[in-house]
Formats: sequence, structure tokens, C-alpha cells
Amino acid sequence: MPGRPIGFFDSGEGGLTVMREVARLLPGENLIYACDTCHFPYGPRPLPDVRRFFLRFINFFREQECKLVVVACNTATVAALDLLDGGLPVPAVGVVRPGARAAAAASRSGRIGVAATQGTVASGIYPRFIRECRPDAVVSQEPCPILVIRAEAGVISGPAVRAEVARCLAPFLEQDVDTLVLGCTHFPHMRAVIADVAGPGVTLVDPGVATAMAVAERLQAGGIANPAAAGSRGFYTTGDPAHFTEVAGRLWPGGVGKAQQIQLDFDQE
Ligand code: DGL
Repeated sequence: MPGRPIGFFDSGEGGLTVMREVARLLPGENLIYACDTCHFPYGPRPLPDVRRFFLRFINFFREQECKLVVVACNTATVAALDLLDGGLPVPAVGVVRPGARAAAAASRSGRIGVAATQGTVASGIYPRFIRECRPDAVVSQEPCPILVIRAEAGVISGPAVRAEVARCLAPFLEQDVDTLVLGCTHFPHMRAVIADVAGPGVTLVDPGVATAMAVAERLQAGGIANPAAAGSRGFYTTGDPAHFTEVAGRLWPGGVGKAQQIQLDFDQE
């Protein structure tokens, strides 16, 4: 069991930010990244569609004999929330609860912003989970779909991105938030620009960091952590593997090797 891989799922390149944190914390684990580039972006899609896509990937991860799946996508975490507590054939961890807890703990003033996709914002999941930990929190949310598109293309810096980040962050700065949740896994790719625009008075919370700790705890508790020195990495996409490899190579230090294409039957009920 310990040598079996951990699976990571996202619509595209975003979940790499979560896998990076897990790889840092647990370098011995074998990691499989699988994303649904052919249905990207998930943010504007009806959540039942996202849930259906996610469930096809769960079959894939089961076939790969994954010991754990990390739902490295906030929108998919929302879409499958009720299934994450034991309702799947493979145990799964989402990114929202760890991120909400980290934000509640990080904020001094209780004024917390959440930048996310349309689907995540509309669900209200972050305000709900943050207030569960901190009932006095004042949470403001904004969808920032343009940043998802840019990060997916590997465009994470430069004057145009900076201007778009400034437009997305303006409402949060007006609200005087002291903590900002990067509530879409694509956003940590452009963390440097976001930090610069937000300024030193705003603490950025990347849910991927807290999720990696949750993964470590889960493996320890289950006695299934891999004691190996250096684990393997595998990358799969439903889209064009050459394109994924090229963009991911810019986002993942050292490159991702060669991604493979997977064909999943999305029409199956
Ligand atoms: N990275 C995903 C998230 O955290 C999805 C972004 C998208 O496909 O719209 O929500």
C-alpha cells in the first residue's frame, strides 16, 4: 500500500500548485497528475457537469491503484463535496476546507477575501467554512476567471497580467482585507504578481500548502506513507499532451517530462 501513488485532479494546469506542495513535503511519494484540459475551464460550467467529469477521473485513479486522491481543484471540490467523506471508491481530500481553516487562522482583523472561479464563488463554500472556524469573519468573494485563463496559458507575469491582477484585487483592497485566499488552484502560479499588487499588509493563503499537510497527516494516520527517498511523477491530460507538457514545463521547475493523453468515457452514466 505505501508504494501506491497519490492522484491529483484539476481541469488543467492549476492543480500543479497543489502537487508541488505535496512533492515538497512528501518527496518519497509516487504522484500521478491527471487533468481534464478538454473541458477546461470548469469555473463557468454547471456543477453537475464538473461532478460527472470528476467521477470519470476517480475511475482512472482507481485503475492506477491510487491510495489517495487530492482534488486539486476548488470547483471540483465544491461539485463533489458530499462524496469526499467516504463516498468514493478511493479516499479523497479536497482543497477548500484546509484553505478555509488556514485563512481563518491567518487573519488578524477577520476581514478575509476569496478570489476564486465563478462556480466556487456562487457556491458560498469558502464563507461558510471560514465562518465555521471563525464566526466573526467578514468574507468578501470575487470571481477572477481571467486569471484562470492566463495561468492555464502559462502567462503568469508581465504588465498585462499585473494590470488584470490589479483589477481583480481592487474590490478586496477597498474592503480592507488583511488575508486573501487564492481560492483557485491556478492562482498560486502567479503568486509573485498577486503578492506585489496586494502589498505587505495582505497575507496570501494558498490552500495547497494546508492541503499538503492534511495529506501528510492522512498518510501517517493510515500507516500508508511511502518511506522512499524520491518518488515517481506521471502526468496525464484529456487534451493535447504536447501542449500540456510545454506549458507545465514553464510552471513546474525542472519540467514535467512527457505528459500522456487519456481517453475517458464522459458519456457513461
Ligand atoms: N483550478 C480550478 C479551481 O481551483 C479550476 C479552474 C477552472 O477550470 O475554471 O477551481
